[in-house]
Amino acid sequence: MSEIPEFPIPVTLGNTEPTPGAQPWYAEPQQSIAGIENIVLVASGKGGVGKSTVTVNLACALAQAGKRVGILDADLYGPSITRMMGTDRELPTDADGRTLPVDNYGVWTVSVGNVLPPEAALVWKGPLVTQALLQMFHDIAWPELDILLVDLPPGTGDVPLTILEQIPVTGAVLVTTPQKLSVVDAARGIAMFHDLDIPVFGIVENMTSYICPCCGEQQALFPDGTVSTLAQRKHVRLLGGVPLDPEGQLLADAGTPLVKSRPEGAVAAAFVGLAAELEAALEKERIFRARDSDAEARAEHEAFWENLLDD
Ligand SMILES: Nc1ncnc2c1ncn2[C@@H]1O[C@H](COP(=O)(O)OP(=O)(O)OP(=O)(O)O)[C@@H](O)[C@H]1O
Ligand SMILES: [Mg+2]
Repeated sequence: MSEIPEFPIPVTLGNTEPTPGAQPWYAEPQQSIAGIENIVLVASGKGGVGKSTVTVNLACALAQAGKRVGILDADLYGPSITRMMGTDRELPTDADGRTLPVDNYGVWTVSVGNVLPPEAALVWKGPLVTQALLQMFHDIAWPELDILLVDLPPGTGDVPLTILEQIPVTGAVLVTTPQKLSVVDAARGIAMFHDLDIPVFGIVENMTSYICPCCGEQQALFPDGTVSTLAQRKHVRLLGGVPLDPEGQLLADAGTPLVKSRPEGAVAAAFVGLAAELEAALEKERIFRARDSDAEARAEHEAFWENLLDD
């Protein structure tokens, strides 16, 4: 039986139990991650709607705007980030033997793609998936980051739930295409985050229009309105739309994100706008949390004096 490269605890293909003797991979639920200010999940209900594309381009646009950005590829069974970011190489280690992320385009990334050969199937069941996932957050020596974007697998299964239970997530961005089937599933994603009290910063409508490779003209792909109706119904923002760029797509899947291959194009402009929207949403959330913790501190202070007077 062949051995999967360390992540960093070695596991064996076909083995469904954590390695005996392995240290617990987290001390307590929601343990914060030193140096990472915001953790933002990029989610969708349906597969193939452009989560990874949005993740890498949003990350590059944020880095261009001066933010310190990382990407954690939480799609363990279908990792795309190494290919899309041109980071298809082994994770380095520092002098203390800690595993480091790899960088390109000013963005730090970690993916199962960095430890598995490109065509190897991941054959881990639940416990190992949870373990690997939490190690990617806690055992990687991430540099100080303003934003860590997490590229999720589609749907509302084990991976997003594990992250939501164990990781202090700041909020989520939902990606959908304009088709009704994708929008219906995006609604399920929003419902999951709302149920778990995770802020939804907004929806990104991917492939909102088609950029003609001959004349560059943009044409709407589907009758519009479905995504904005969902946004209104669920009381979340429509952060913006991203055109479908068939020419850029080939380069994108070979490691050059759309915002890098055509920095003057409509897709790059869309991501610059999305990055600004996300920054604004994070700032609002920061103010909201600070106000919340002020209120908490005030309440504690008042309770202290009340107790003292009662005594
Ligand atoms: N706006 C776009 N313009 C051109 N190509 C795009 C665009 N968005 C996505 N694509 C292409 O569509 C394919 C699917 O996109 P992507 O892998 O980002 O979807 P996903 O939601 O992450 O999929 P999965 O659910 O499998 O993880 C990719 O080949 C990607 O390059
Ligand atoms: Mg993906």
